[in-house]
Amino acid sequence: MRVFIAGATGAIGTRLVAQLIERGHEVIGSSRSPERAERVRALGAEPIVLDLLDPDAVRRAVLEVEPEAIVHQATALADVRFSKNLDESFAQTNRLRREGTDALLATAREAGVHRFVAQSFASMRYARVGGPVKSEDDPLDVTPVAGMAETTAAMSYLDQAVTEAGGIALRYGNFYGATNDGLIEPVRKRQFPIVGDGGGVSSFIHLDDAAGATVIALEHDGPATYNIVDDEPAPVRDWLPVLAEALGAKPPRHFPVWLARMFAGEPGVMLGTEARGASNAKAKRELGWTPRYPSWRQGFAEAYAAQAASTSEPRSLAPADAGRARSASR
Ligand SMILES: NC(=O)c1ccc[n+]([C@@H]2O[C@H](COP(=O)([O-])OP(=O)(O)OC[C@H]3O[C@@H](n4cnc5c(N)ncnc54)[C@H](OP(=O)(O)O)[C@@H]3O)[C@@H](O)[C@H]2O)c1
Repeated sequence: MRVFIAGATGAIGTRLVAQLIERGHEVIGSSRSPERAERVRALGAEPIVLDLLDPDAVRRAVLEVEPEAIVHQATALADVRFSKNLDESFAQTNRLRREGTDALLATAREAGVHRFVAQSFASMRYARVGGPVKSEDDPLDVTPVAGMAETTAAMSYLDQAVTEAGGIALRYGNFYGATNDGLIEPVRKRQFPIVGDGGGVSSFIHLDDAAGATVIALEHDGPATYNIVDDEPAPVRDWLPVLAEALGAKPPRHFPVWLARMFAGEPGVMLGTEARGASNAKAKRELGWTPRYPSWRQGFAEAYAAQAASTSEPRSLAPADAGRARSASR
């Protein structure tokens, strides 16, 4: 199959290019810059330079490429930090989820491309009522906390536009598995605390598994929405200490809700105390997909083994630690 990937240079895009090629597909991948597009070529795909927010350019590119399938993996999240106002931090991504999706779908219609798979997101999406783990049929949060109304709406817009067009929206869990994963730095610096009872539930997915599920989704008919998450949705109080240990960092701090609200705003409090996780039962059942990393427990340890090794050496030489070690041995 001839597959066009919008956003082929990203954390998931690069893995997706490699896995599609391995599976025998022909891949055309986009980047906004010619230099980054060369990375796509190095992976064995045909590169194309494209800004998804330019609908005329999208039309020209897709008509020229003549793909049989389109994958939308474009986001602007790589350097984004979690903040009190997610709508501000996610503004560009929200445009890509609305305008970028519209541009790709319009051209897909015109070019008669019937396979369409797009990146959506499962975390912090489901209504904060009832049980801790949600399926695709469970209601989404229609009263999002302050600072994330537009972000939530943009994800729902994408889900709806894609499925109405007969495509597949993949609600990925929190990505991990790369050396620049968003959680690494805040967890290492102990800037990511356990808030209140730490009962907010998160769902994770290793980037290799996210790409693997995307390859399989491309081989299935839509319309459909799938949670692409691992087998173990878990409260922050459970996964955060394990992540800190995997990174060779000190254990996370504990913040009361009022203090977390000051530093991380309502989105941070919601994530830490109320968020719901997602179930992958439908993706397993209908796509026949199984994650290679069924739990973040083994996934974090494997993904961050090198990082933990690199932090543990200097840490053991640090004067403060040496002092502690001396007094402990007395
Ligand atoms: N995906 C999520 O919802 C999410 C949520 C929270 C945190 N994160 C964190 O973000 C990290 C990155 O994840 P990711 O793979 O989604 O993002 P990424 O690595 O930044 O990849 C984004 C892709 O979108 C492309 N892109 C950006 N703006 C574009 C535009 N205007 N037109 C066309 N393409 C555009 C980029 O291409 P060029 O720059 O080459 O043009 C790149 O290929 C993850 O490691 C994760 O920790 C992700």
